[in-house]
Amino acid sequence: MNRIKAEQLQQKVMDAKDAALLFKNGMVVGTSGFTKSGDSKAVLPALAERAAVDGIKITLITGASLGQDTDAKLASAGALSKRMPFQSDPVLRKHINSGEVLFIDQHLSESVELLHSHYIPKLDIAVIEAALITEDGSIVPTTSVGNSVSFAAMAEKVIIEINTLVPEDIQGIHDIFLPADYPHRNSIPVNTPDARIGRTTIPLNPDKIAAIVYTAVQDSPADIVAPDAKTMAIAGHLVGFFESEVTSGRLTPSLLPIQAGIGKVANAVLTGLQHGGFHDLTMYSEVLQDSTFDLIDAGKLNFASGSSITVSAACYDRVIGNLDKYRDKMVLRPQNISNAPGVIRRLGIIAINTAIEFDIYGNVNSTHIGGTHIMNGIGGSGDFARNAYLSIFVTQAASKNDVISHVLPMVSHVDHNEHDVDILVTDYGLADLRGMAPRERAQTIISNCVHPDYRPALQDYFDRACAQRGGQTPHILEEAFSWHVGLREKGTMKG
Ligand code: COA
Repeated sequence: MNRIKAEQLQQKVMDAKDAALLFKNGMVVGTSGFTKSGDSKAVLPALAERAAVDGIKITLITGASLGQDTDAKLASAGALSKRMPFQSDPVLRKHINSGEVLFIDQHLSESVELLHSHYIPKLDIAVIEAALITEDGSIVPTTSVGNSVSFAAMAEKVIIEINTLVPEDIQGIHDIFLPADYPHRNSIPVNTPDARIGRTTIPLNPDKIAAIVYTAVQDSPADIVAPDAKTMAIAGHLVGFFESEVTSGRLTPSLLPIQAGIGKVANAVLTGLQHGGFHDLTMYSEVLQDSTFDLIDAGKLNFASGSSITVSAACYDRVIGNLDKYRDKMVLRPQNISNAPGVIRRLGIIAINTAIEFDIYGNVNSTHIGGTHIMNGIGGSGDFARNAYLSIFVTQAASKNDVISHVLPMVSHVDHNEHDVDILVTDYGLADLRGMAPRERAQTIISNCVHPDYRPALQDYFDRACAQRGGQTPHILEEAFSWHVGLREKGTMKG
């Protein structure tokens, strides 16, 4: 099976160790990989091995998180000086929080804009996983597109990893569109989730190809956690809300295109949509996950647009082994298209994302623990929350034996401010904040979403803030973070 259709490129084949020698200290590297899919399986791990010996350091820009523990290997080897725009690796997280690796936590639609505007130095090398290279030297990506289109266009040199485990017939799943540079940018003509506006391959000047490396390694599987009582309660509240929107005529049984972050709550909500009277659903999201394909198989979901397929091992075989079954039901786009604010606003997306904590006015923290330490990053949640028709955030009301309340007087870090948040849901209930002023929002959140152990204290805080301080958004500033301080000093947020 010849995966390099452009004969003259055969001579560029080398092993990963040799390709890793092409990097120089201080280089800026862009790599494929979005939510653990379609990432480098050989060259970056080989670079980590090299860095452990010779101390080379790079700036690494990805689509989103990497699989194969690559971020952990690179961070442990000291190979990363700067990393953007998203990560979810516990080892890298430690290196970021110790200040050793600088992390730019950025909206996923915006990384390529930063490159275009030259705030980030020029890309020296791009590493891109591909299923094959076509006759004209262009690339057929694998299970994600991410930022690869822009990386291929902007990098000085490109290393291609051909993954022979990905079938060649993945060609056709992708829709590759590169917006023009400013001031020549035009509208992105995606008017429905199934719109195809580009080509099926990533264009690449073959002269830029510095190396081609063969691999045969499957994407790291998504961790599918079975729904528990809390996630089922959250899903139940949300599905009930959608049903009441349909009954009131604000939505039809097809809802509007859905975006859902990955994880157990999103999976539980999407699974919940299999039941009830919903039909002809669509998704315009970042990640196509197990529940996406379950909904397609159940005949409930007509079409899913994303930037990656991130699924469990069993679902991988079901989807990647049967691409013809799903070919006309899905598309993978560059992340600056899947997350394009204008498209999200035009399509009227229902965005469902997870919060670490939210406050009584509806400000959401998705990224920081205790106000200082990064968890993963904002990912695409901000692209969607700001522009969605319905911006929904979910979280458990309390965790760790209920010593942590996830509903607080004031969030310790703001990713999504009150103006961008419509609906908040915990396992205790749902707050529909649309059309509400701050004082109404606070009372609704306290009444509907808070764990009973914390409700009297939060009500008391709000009542005293209104009585003693007043204002549009009443707060007692010297107390606003006392719950976080209590957790740090006494091990509980309970007063
Ligand atoms: N102090 C200490 N720990 C805290 C805390 C606090 N104030 N608040 C929350 N936590 C802990 C929780 O106890 C929990 O710990 P555990 O994992 O040890 O149980 C953890 O933080 C949060 O985990 P959980 O509530 O289970 O959330 P999750 O695994 O569903 O992930 C996010 C939630 C917000 C971290 C995750 O969804 C995310 O990274 N989102 C941002 C990116 C995004 O939204 N992308 C969308 C498109 S894919």
